[in-house]
Amino acid sequence: MLSPLLSLAAGCDVVDLGCGTGRSIAELVRIGARSIVGVDFSKEMLERASRRLPTRVRLVESDCRKTPLPAQCCDWVLASFLLSYLDGLTAFAQEVVRISRPRTFVLITDVHPATRSYGWRRTFRSAESVIEIQTHPYEISDLDCAMHRAGFDPVYFKEAGFGTEELEIFSQAGRPDLYWTVKDLPVFFAAGYQKERA
Ligand SMILES: C[S@@+](CC[C@H](N)C(=O)[O-])C[C@H]1O[C@@H](n2cnc3c(N)ncnc32)[C@H](O)[C@@H]1O
Repeated sequence: MLSPLLSLAAGCDVVDLGCGTGRSIAELVRIGARSIVGVDFSKEMLERASRRLPTRVRLVESDCRKTPLPAQCCDWVLASFLLSYLDGLTAFAQEVVRISRPRTFVLITDVHPATRSYGWRRTFRSAESVIEIQTHPYEISDLDCAMHRAGFDPVYFKEAGFGTEELEIFSQAGRPDLYWTVKDLPVFFAAGYQKERA
């Protein structure tokens, strides 16, 4: 879902908020973004990112809601699988508008809010225990509202479910049958916003 959209960042000054290990930044380098800054508040994530990325990518350890980046430093912003971890969206949207030039495009992807109604939990296994990740639920309308208040227009929205490539993951977990039950449900979304002219 993300790759065709990332290609729109070719030639742009890009900020990836909550960049993690730099999965999307590697793609942004490949497609020819003019400059790339990755922001994450986890030192461990940034260390892993710095091992895989070229030195021209700047990595900044910071909360994405209050970065040390200069105002109007970018024309493309990515926030991929970040928002569920934020307690409220207003501070995020205000920081995005601060660092954005007029007409900046913002691409947000996340787990679809509808997954809550399926009763799914976000967990991972560590040794013998299953650990639940704390997330902060929001609706797409909450996101639209926070971005609109900050000065962004919605310009793109797409929902997606699991693709056939995820069938292997279900099979490895011993539940290939479950894939066929859930494959038509929305599981992810991508939303694009554009900053109004100054
Ligand atoms: C699920 S990972 C997604 C990483 C990457 N964007 C991707 O799509 O692969 C979420 C990342 O957001 C970071 N994060 C969560 N809250 C943050 C915050 N308030 N400020 C900066 N980074 C944050 C975490 O450290 C983690 O690296």
